[in-house]
Amino acid sequence: MKKKVTIFGSTGSIGLSTLDIINQHKDKYEVVGLSINNNYQKLLEQVSVFSPKIVSIKDSISYEKFKDENTNQSLKILNGSDSYDDILDYDTDIVVAAITGSAGLLPVVGAAERGITIALANKESLVCSGSLITSLAKKNGSTILPVDSEHNAIYQVLDIKNKKSISKLILTASGGPFLNKNIEDLKDITPEQAIKHPNWSMGKKISVDSATMMNKGLELIEAHYLFDMPKEKIEIVVHPESIVHSCVEYSDGSILAQMGNPDMRTPISYTLAYPERIPISVDKLKLSEIKKLTFFEPDFKKFPCLNLAYLSLKMKKSAPTVLNAANEIAVDSFLKRKISYLDIHKVVEKTLNKASISDINSIKDVIDIDCESRSIATELINS
Ligand SMILES: NC(=O)c1ccc[n+]([C@@H]2O[C@H](COP(=O)([O-])OP(=O)(O)OC[C@H]3O[C@@H](n4cnc5c(N)ncnc54)[C@H](OP(=O)(O)O)[C@@H]3O)[C@@H](O)[C@H]2O)c1
Repeated sequence: MKKKVTIFGSTGSIGLSTLDIINQHKDKYEVVGLSINNNYQKLLEQVSVFSPKIVSIKDSISYEKFKDENTNQSLKILNGSDSYDDILDYDTDIVVAAITGSAGLLPVVGAAERGITIALANKESLVCSGSLITSLAKKNGSTILPVDSEHNAIYQVLDIKNKKSISKLILTASGGPFLNKNIEDLKDITPEQAIKHPNWSMGKKISVDSATMMNKGLELIEAHYLFDMPKEKIEIVVHPESIVHSCVEYSDGSILAQMGNPDMRTPISYTLAYPERIPISVDKLKLSEIKKLTFFEPDFKKFPCLNLAYLSLKMKKSAPTVLNAANEIAVDSFLKRKISYLDIHKVVEKTLNKASISDINSIKDVIDIDCESRSIATELINS
């Protein structure tokens, strides 16, 4: 039996890597649904190769263009961001959540409600919704398999049955493109410089997050909720080579790590094949050629976004939701050249100070707080 796969964000970096693996194993996987924002031409190509049953295009103009050019008569074509429910009603074994930002929240919630296995790349959905998604998944028997290379690494080496013996999770961080720059050199950073990651090829938003190290802050929050670990038991270590993808330290002093070349197809294939493994065409790591691996503490002064992520976890309640929303607005404004690189953390900090921090009891609360925080951040930027 082939595994049925639906991808939310099929035209992005994670979506393309997922389809690359499926293409290598057409005997094992079949594509049921694909969802995108506006890149309808790439979607047309994907439809001709993978013949999904249903597609969704958020942008109305792209939807019309896609319909005009599509030749697959049996394909169901939907428009709008609320079409995720219709897609998830198709029989699916695994949903790959690869939309960027909190826009990817509802498909993850929908999959968790239906008890479908989730390959979770969209870290923002966990960050903004606290423990709601993990609780929902648990209640409905939905397994969340992390795609983020760090969390995927931890998932692979985590002895969850011996939780008491876990002394800490060690998240590794490449340090991004500005690891070796002085703070003074950061004020004139352009979007082009910020999205040029030294080790990974990724979408623009996560690339900027890697440059500010907010990405690691979001991953700290993601790990906290996903593995139910207090923030005191999660350490961040800078590891510029991106070979050790993360580790778990146990009470007997053992540290178990997962290693590999920096290629997202490895963690993605792990989630698709779970609990098995499949061979994929990635460059294998040659240990004897590495020579040296380095690890050091992050510079919290140079990367204030990391501090803000820790602070939001300390503030608890809706603070991570506020942090995430403000960061999305700030990064988008930076990419549109409305604010400078060094304004990103200021917008996030000021939004955290200005927003009212409240309990999160429902997905509606998450959406309301996300919306309100975006308004505050936008106002701050406009003023
Ligand atoms: N890239 C990586 O290596 C990597 C690693 C770890 C985790 N992640 C996480 O994976 C997620 C995706 O990252 P990415 O790098 O693949 O991003 P990306 O390249 O920007 O792709 C985003 C995908 O989501 C779609 N999309 C964007 N906004 C949408 C909206 N409002 N509604 C519906 N679809 C929307 C895009 O469609 P269009 O193409 O039509 O715009 C595209 O298919 C992020 O949460 C990121 O943090 C990525």
